Amino acid sequence: MNVLVIGSGGREHALCRTLQSSARGEPLRLFCAPGNAGIEEVAECVALSATDVSALADFAVRERIGLTVVGGEAPLDAGLVDEFERRGLLVAGPPRAAARLESSKVFAKDFMLRHGVPTARHRVAASVAEAREILRGGVFGGEDTSVVVKADGLAAGKGVVVARSRAEAERAVEELMEGGRVGSEAGRRVLLEEALEGREASLLLWTDGRDYVLMPPARDHKRVGEGDTGPNTGGMGAITAHGVLDEETLARAVNEIVEPTLRGARDEGLNFRGVLFVGLMLTAEGPRALEYNVRFGDPEAQAILVRLRSSLAEIFEAVATRRLGELNVTWSDDASACVVLAARGYPECPETGARIHGLGEATLVPSAQIFHAGTSRTPDGSLLTAGGRVLGITATAPTLGQALERCYASAARISWDGMHYRRDIGRFTENSRQQEHYREQ
Ligand SMILES: Nc1ncnc2c1ncn2[C@@H]1O[C@H](COP(=O)(O)OP(=O)(O)O)[C@@H](O)[C@H]1O
Ligand SMILES: [Mg+2]
Repeated sequence: MNVLVIGSGGREHALCRTLQSSARGEPLRLFCAPGNAGIEEVAECVALSATDVSALADFAVRERIGLTVVGGEAPLDAGLVDEFERRGLLVAGPPRAAARLESSKVFAKDFMLRHGVPTARHRVAASVAEAREILRGGVFGGEDTSVVVKADGLAAGKGVVVARSRAEAERAVEELMEGGRVGSEAGRRVLLEEALEGREASLLLWTDGRDYVLMPPARDHKRVGEGDTGPNTGGMGAITAHGVLDEETLARAVNEIVEPTLRGARDEGLNFRGVLFVGLMLTAEGPRALEYNVRFGDPEAQAILVRLRSSLAEIFEAVATRRLGELNVTWSDDASACVVLAARGYPECPETGARIHGLGEATLVPSAQIFHAGTSRTPDGSLLTAGGRVLGITATAPTLGQALERCYASAARISWDGMHYRRDIGRFTENSRQQEHYREQ
C-alpha cells in the first residue's frame, strides 16, 4: 500500500518510522510531504507544502495513495480531509468542521458546555473594551486573581497567556487582539478563563467516530527553560509513565471527559475521526478539560509511538474505514521520554545552518531513537540545523528515570554550536507557584 504522511517535524518523523517498522504483510511505500532530512531515510519526501491541499490531493491521486495520515492542525483546518474524501481518497483525520474543536477555542468551549464536559469557567469577548468590562466586573475575582487569556483561533502555541493579575490580563487581551502577537483572525475574539490549579496531563486516543483506543497518557514541557521558566515553545520534552495519570483519575477522565466528548461529536454529526488529544488539568476537584487538539502533539507523539507494539498502519486504516473496534492495540509496559535538542535563539529567533555532530554514536545508546524536527542535509551528506527544534532524543526503559538517563546519555553524544536542551524533563511541579515549588526540591 502507498501511504502519505503530511508534515515535516519530529512528530511526522516518528509517524513515518513507526508506520514503516509496523508494516504487516504487504510492504509499505511511504511518502511524506514535505518531510525533512531524517524523514528522507524512511520515506520518499515530496516537495509540497502541508497546506497546499489541492496539490497534495493531485499527488495522492497520481501516486495511488491508499491512506493519508495528517501530522499537524494546519492542513486539517485548511480542509485537507474534506478535499481528499471528495476525491475518493482514504484519509485518517477529522474534516474541517470537526477540526474546529481545535481551531476555535470558543467553539470547543461551547461544545464542552453543551455536552457536560467539565472545564474552566469562561467568558468570550469580541473587543478589548468588552474584555476589560468582563474583567473589571469581577466574575473571575479581584485585581490580584489570575485569569487565563486565550485567542480564539490557531496560534501555534502563542495564543495563551496565564495572567497573574487583572492588569496583566488586560495587557494580554490588548496584545492578542491588537498587538499582532497572533494573526488578526485568530485574535478576533478572546476567551477569558478561570485559572485552574493542578498538574497537567495529555490524554490521546484514536477514534473512528464510533469506537476509540486510548494511548498511554503523556505529559509535556512547554517552557524553554528549566523549572518551567522562560517563553513557551512548541515543546521541549515529553514523557509517558504510569505515574502520569493514576487509574482512578484516568477512569474519571474517560467517563467525564472523553466519552461525553465522543458522544457529543457523534450526536452533532461532526464525523470526528483521527487522533483526539485532550489537554487535562488535574485539579483537586477532579480532571478538567483545558483544550482539544485534533491530532498528535509534538513531542508527545514521539514519546507515545515508541511504545506502540501494534501496527500503526493498521490502526490508521481502521480509523479511516471505521473498523477500530476490530483491533486489539497493544503497548510496551515501559516508560518513555523525549528530550528536544534546540538551536540557539529558540523560540524567538533560532539560528540555523550549524553542523550537527555525533548522531551515529548517539543512536548506539540502548533503545534510543532520534527523530529529526528541523534538519537539512548538505550535498556532501553532512547534517545541518534547519529549525528551532532540531532533534528529539527518545528512549524507553522499565522506569521513567532509566528512560531519561538513556535520553540524556544519547543527547550528551550530540553537539553543534548553540545546542541547548532542558536537563529536567520528567520533573513536574504544580502549575501554581511552580517556580517556588521547583526551587524547594
Ligand atoms: N484554565 C486554565 N487554568 C490554568 N492554566 C491554563 C488554563 N488554560 C490553559 N492553561 C495553561 O496554558 C497552556 C496552553 O493552553 P491551551 O488551552 O492548552 O492552549 P494551546 O495549547 O492552544 O496554547 C496549558 O497547557 C496550561 O498550562
Ligand atoms: Mg495546549
